[in-house]
Amino acid sequence: MFSSSNRRLFLTRAAIASGLGSGLIGRTLAWEPPTASATKGPFYPIPEISKQKYYDTDLTRLDAQSPIAQGQQILVRGVVVDMDEKPLDQVIVEVWQACDTGRYNHPQDKNDRPIDPNFQYWARILTGPDGAFSFRTIQPGKYPGRTPHIHYRLVAPNRPELVTQMYFESQSEFNLKDGIYMDLKPQQRKAVTVGFENKPIGPEPKDASGQPVEKLPTGHFRVVLGPKSDAKSTQPM
Ligand SMILES: [Fe+2]
Repeated sequence: MFSSSNRRLFLTRAAIASGLGSGLIGRTLAWEPPTASATKGPFYPIPEISKQKYYDTDLTRLDAQSPIAQGQQILVRGVVVDMDEKPLDQVIVEVWQACDTGRYNHPQDKNDRPIDPNFQYWARILTGPDGAFSFRTIQPGKYPGRTPHIHYRLVAPNRPELVTQMYFESQSEFNLKDGIYMDLKPQQRKAVTVGFENKPIGPEPKDASGQPVEKLPTGHFRVVLGPKSDAKSTQPM
């Protein structure tokens, strides 16, 4: 994905090359294309599942006393911005995904892989004033016909809702064989493909004898919402 500075430079050069005046260049500088939408798929949590007791930001277990779900734990740190790169507060971010075996907790999922009773499968998160959200989950398993991915639905006031999918840079071999992924334009694919690095979670210990720092593969997902519209956004379930 273009970094902000690279994107600005590219757009500025493109504007200059096309002979645009400085006023128009100024309006061109801060524009960032909205994140590409993708199919919601058949496994969006139905109302029965949405009424489940657990939907917090730790999908790796149902609650603090529960056993831990199977799979490689990861941390997703995200931010939601508008096309002018302004962080968006109070955006509802729903995520849902398969467990380690590649199975969804959904009656339409007919594959015979076992459900993980300790995995939370979905979450509902609200962005803060800085547009940030985060959740802890497991690397989703592959299931027939798809590369590993996490589904997202974002609902912001007075904006069209965005349904999209996030992919894993480490799974490029499978990404390149995935029809939904390959339907995106190359730049759109880059924007929804996240690399994960092993990073410490929480504050560092104050001295060498402090508690060991927990580290998790951490990835950053930047979501850009389209412009405001008069249409009322769809209410979450
Ligand atoms: Fe899916």
